[in-house]
Amino acid sequence: MIRSQLTGIGAYLPRTLVSNDEMAKRVDTSDEWIRERTGIRQRYFAAPDESCAFMATEAARAALADAGVDAAKVDAILLATATPDQAFPATAVRVQAALGCGGFGFDLSAACSGFIYALSMADAMIRAGQVRTVLVIGAEVYSRIMNWEDRGTCVLFGDGAGAVLLQAGEGDGSHADRGILASRLHSQGALADILYVDGAVGQPDKPGHLVMNGREVFRHAVGKLAETVQQTLEASGLTAADIDWLVPHQANMRIIDAVGRKLGLGADKVVVTVDQHANTSAASIPLALHAAYRDGRIKRGQLVLMEALGGGLTWGSALVRLG
Ligand code: ACO
Repeated sequence: MIRSQLTGIGAYLPRTLVSNDEMAKRVDTSDEWIRERTGIRQRYFAAPDESCAFMATEAARAALADAGVDAAKVDAILLATATPDQAFPATAVRVQAALGCGGFGFDLSAACSGFIYALSMADAMIRAGQVRTVLVIGAEVYSRIMNWEDRGTCVLFGDGAGAVLLQAGEGDGSHADRGILASRLHSQGALADILYVDGAVGQPDKPGHLVMNGREVFRHAVGKLAETVQQTLEASGLTAADIDWLVPHQANMRIIDAVGRKLGLGADKVVVTVDQHANTSAASIPLALHAAYRDGRIKRGQLVLMEALGGGLTWGSALVRLG
């Protein structure tokens, strides 16, 4: 059977690093409050020339280089973002032009779960035989939708981009295969109003800032994430004990710890970058994957479980044996 093998990983972080102490000069907060509630120590903010398309392109170039694949081979670009440069064209086609590849590209909107959604869509297209080589990118510039009057949210987010290359390969259908073994997606629109952006093309009178009821998001996060992870494991015939690494969406340490505990995974199996990057929404999983891959913790052949939850609410998980 055809498997979507993950053969390259790349990332881009903006040049400007902003510590919690620097945030405290701008809003009424402290390093201690931010660290204790979230685990965040710093984040990166994009400069005007570091657009969503620019960061996505840099991450994609790095993923192609890691896989040793030429951009001309790419059939499709799926870019998950809630902060595109323009309503249209899709940021993905800007990336396509910058890389000089053919095929097609489109953006996908599922907030912090966007990377899992894009990975799952790309996997379906590859297994259907529609495409063979796909760039899956998560890229965000949340600094441009933050409400600096709301200290409860503006301290939580950062900017950046991460990308993976998926290539069609052969497998025997067992969980020893390399590639995406299973994924599960969910949304619950009835919960849309606990985490949203209040302005867009259809609401030109609103500022376009992120609005969140943090306690409500937290209340839903742990149970829903643990459940989707179990579904993905069951679909692959595996258990949490088989996982080499959990690469969770990096929203805050308390959610990450609680999901890890529910799955019975030790902290030594969980990749954490929220302290370094803060919450970069759709970019957070590929950024975390890249960090642990680059420093040698995550190796090819290992089993990696990814999970995310975000505005929508949307949530989902994917299990991948790295190629
Ligand atoms: N600095 C200092 N004090 C602050 C700050 C800040 N940055 N923000 C809020 N406070 C104060 C509030 O004013 C309040 O003070 P009061 O008691 O005097 O009124 C107090 O801290 C508690 O405020 P809450 O908003 O109730 O803070 P809470 O304890 O809920 O923590 C947090 C907020 C960290 C966001 C928490 O709700 C949480 O972890 N939520 C999970 C959701 C999440 O992480 N979302 C990220 C995006 S969604 C996602 O990616 C899954």
